[in-house]
Amino acid sequence: MSDGALPFLPYGRQTIEDDDVAAVAAALRADLLTTGPTVEAFETAFKEKVGAKHAIAVSNGTATLHLTMLALGVGEGDVCIAPSVTFLATANCARYVGAEVVFADVDPNSGLMTPESLADALKRAAGRKVKAVLPVHLRGDICDLPGLKALADGVGAVLVEDAPHALGSVGTFGGVAHPVGDGAYSSFASFSFHPVKTLATGEGGMLTTNDAALAARARSLRGHGMVRPAGAEAWVYEMPELGFNYRIPDVLCALGISQLAKLDRFVARRKALAALYAEKLASLAPVVRLAESPAWSDPALHLLTVLVDFEAAGTMRREVVEALKAQGVGSQVHYIPVHRQPYYQARYGALDLPGADAWYARCLTLPLYPGMADGDVDRVVEALAGALGR
Ligand SMILES: Cc1ncc(COP(=O)(O)O)c(C=O)c1O
Repeated sequence: MSDGALPFLPYGRQTIEDDDVAAVAAALRADLLTTGPTVEAFETAFKEKVGAKHAIAVSNGTATLHLTMLALGVGEGDVCIAPSVTFLATANCARYVGAEVVFADVDPNSGLMTPESLADALKRAAGRKVKAVLPVHLRGDICDLPGLKALADGVGAVLVEDAPHALGSVGTFGGVAHPVGDGAYSSFASFSFHPVKTLATGEGGMLTTNDAALAARARSLRGHGMVRPAGAEAWVYEMPELGFNYRIPDVLCALGISQLAKLDRFVARRKALAALYAEKLASLAPVVRLAESPAWSDPALHLLTVLVDFEAAGTMRREVVEALKAQGVGSQVHYIPVHRQPYYQARYGALDLPGADAWYARCLTLPLYPGMADGDVDRVVEALAGALGR
């Protein structure tokens, strides 16, 4: 920078390198910009990476969630359970198909839905047909999938992992390591490739499943509900049910393939930076502490979220965010509890979810992305210490 100011550190950003640019340029010169072979190549590379039988590439993460609802036959009269601490789309997908949302509380220290908070939500849903439970692997940390699945099985519901934060995370359950997306406990796992995620295509998403029938259904619903009848002429297609255009173009899939090849490096860098944060932030304890990671979770860490006792520090989050910004440090809040959104309050009234409220009162996301230098972590922690008067 010409004025000598240090570059602004956003809370997250993509890492695009020369070979990513070259891959996109080559895709732009190909015969097919969309519905071409690069879509399938991205799907194949992705399913092999996470250990799933099927992968369906989609236009964005919200569309993947909508497709899961359609493929599972969720509709009016059904209920889906979503954690309140998540991005809006986790809950909204149920509403797209006319189902109702019952919000689960979260652990105030990890932000995750737990078997206890799911059991409480199931009590509130008693008497209604719960079709799907949507755990969110917030920040990249993995929910207790076996515990959640046991409860979902008990009411005949399935798990849909909303996993945009957790590409590259691994959960160890019963001594077996499961990459997020391998579908060991869920009907679908859903990913987003929005630029702040661990893999970026600009807009983009992926669904994984081990169920061939669900995969075929999601695939046809992604393309207007069209299917090609076996043995029919090449130009024949039929539309047995209503679908959407949720396709992702080949150009973006070329970027996805290029990025996926670097995922391990990106994740290793995120982990190294997170370890540095843990070391440096220790000096600000107990006012600042890292969000808790469950014992089974080896997170790729999409977000570096700290919990700040603003009251003990004698300040307010707004002031800290402003002070950080003045030092060139971006921050964000993940998330305002979804049950507090006007749309959901108007629909379901005021809910008492103390874990979500406690999480929201303290959470603050600090910069974390592979392009950060070690010294950037010092800069962030020093700025935070200054903002908290430490
Ligand atoms: C937990 C979660 N679910 C769903 C989405 C939606 O993904 P997209 O922005 O690709 O539609 C996001 C994106 O931020 C997310 O964080």
